[in-house]
Amino acid sequence: MAPTPLNVKAVVSGPMDVEADLLCFMTTSESPQVKHVEASGLDGAVRQAAGDVAGQMGRIATIHNPQGNPPRIMVAGLGADNSITADTIRHVAGIVSKRARDIKVGRIAVYCPDIRDASDVATQIVEGHILSMYSFDDYKSKKASPAPELVVVCESDVADVVERARITAEGVAFTRSVANMPPNECPPAALADIAQKMAKERDMTCTVMYGSQLSEGGFGGITAVGQGSVNPPRLVILEYKGGQDDEAPVALVGKAVTFDTGGISIKPGERMDEMKFDKCGGCTVLGIMQAAADLRIPMNIVGVIPSVENMPGGGSYRPGDIIRLYGGKTAEILNTDAEGRLILSDALSYVEQRYSPRCIIDFATLTGACIIALGCDVAGMISNNDQLADAIQESARHTAEGVWRLPLDADYMEMVKSKVADIRNLGKGRAAGTIVAAAFLRHAINDTPWVHLDIAGTAWIQPPSKKRSYNTTGATGFGVRLILDYLRR
Ligand code: BES
Ligand code: MN
Ligand code: ZN
Repeated sequence: MAPTPLNVKAVVSGPMDVEADLLCFMTTSESPQVKHVEASGLDGAVRQAAGDVAGQMGRIATIHNPQGNPPRIMVAGLGADNSITADTIRHVAGIVSKRARDIKVGRIAVYCPDIRDASDVATQIVEGHILSMYSFDDYKSKKASPAPELVVVCESDVADVVERARITAEGVAFTRSVANMPPNECPPAALADIAQKMAKERDMTCTVMYGSQLSEGGFGGITAVGQGSVNPPRLVILEYKGGQDDEAPVALVGKAVTFDTGGISIKPGERMDEMKFDKCGGCTVLGIMQAAADLRIPMNIVGVIPSVENMPGGGSYRPGDIIRLYGGKTAEILNTDAEGRLILSDALSYVEQRYSPRCIIDFATLTGACIIALGCDVAGMISNNDQLADAIQESARHTAEGVWRLPLDADYMEMVKSKVADIRNLGKGRAAGTIVAAAFLRHAINDTPWVHLDIAGTAWIQPPSKKRSYNTTGATGFGVRLILDYLRR
């Protein structure tokens, strides 16, 4: 299921010296003309094409040069200087690559525009290319046309940066390809197999817990949520050791509900198919781990993915049940559709106790309330540590993956207290649903610095989502670039 890696490289050169089937220049409203073609005899044609584009964001024009090299020149507009963000370049690069693929170009060269830092620009061109070329066609008889090779042409050496961006974007593509899998093909056991295969192909270990290891090992949340399905749960543990042996790891935890019907508190039928994406948090962890190993990030990282299918059935857990979570706290179940916090609590407590990590970051499509609060382009962030939260917010500015912090103080912790157990899996009424879920998670850990990212709105393209050339349908891989940026800083 993992996508085939694309061919991407960097060359230090002037634009007219590269071998390619198509050479692309990016222009801006302030500087709409292409300066590098004077000696080629193509300047008249290029001037006209560039004039048509006028530097406008997302507009492209192509001129043909049948006998010469390159045989095609494209001009692509980025917009006005003060409106160009990292995301603009990524988006326009995606438009360019998609057009190149449509016209069956074998190799495309993109010349880095001379706007701000060349490494940033190169990164965004590579990401826009790889992410826009991703297509979920594993189940289609007719596949997408093959992606062209990309050559990033720059006056300075950006080879390392391009390779880093390539690995990062392939991590995102891996996350998307697993997250897009249909629920019949990706029950917890299959997800665990994918993790095992990924780890085996690189320098990483993967341990999978199942059966009595979970039910008798104290994993009461995973066991309860999983007991209604014929597809039994798994707990996937990935360990990557890029740091010193005795160095505390960074822990990444991701919710992987391979299908969320709601269980006995069953969901309405409309758009229920999208609940295959309830495994996206776990898939984010897979993509980050793959890229971290390929990038040889010099630190230890542990990834923990609790995976279940939440189904109604004769064996299902019920509203009214009281269960014991990993670590010993009891939880009163009031709604079986609030299942994510139960499996995550087990995983969070386990990783804190077993690994004493220096910090824990979790990803979960946890609450519909997060979409009500922030929409589909910004993830909810809740944390017990200002420094960690600020660092993630800073990375979000660089990767254009929106995050916004919500509060979690003692008053919210009150909202998950139960009359009959230690905590309850529902708040009081519908108020502050995203924070209530995070308050439940907060009970699973002691004082390890922790960030929770609620990716319910951002993990896949939904009707209100902003569409970009590199993200049009299905899973987005949200969080992979974000956390890799954080780890690198
Ligand atoms: N996986 C859902 C949250 C979700 C819903 C994500 C829609 C993305 C789109 C989660 O397990 C859930 O069902 N949460 C409930 C919690 C409620 C019962 C307290 C919700 O948000 O309605
Ligand atoms: Mn649910
Ligand atoms: Zn869920």
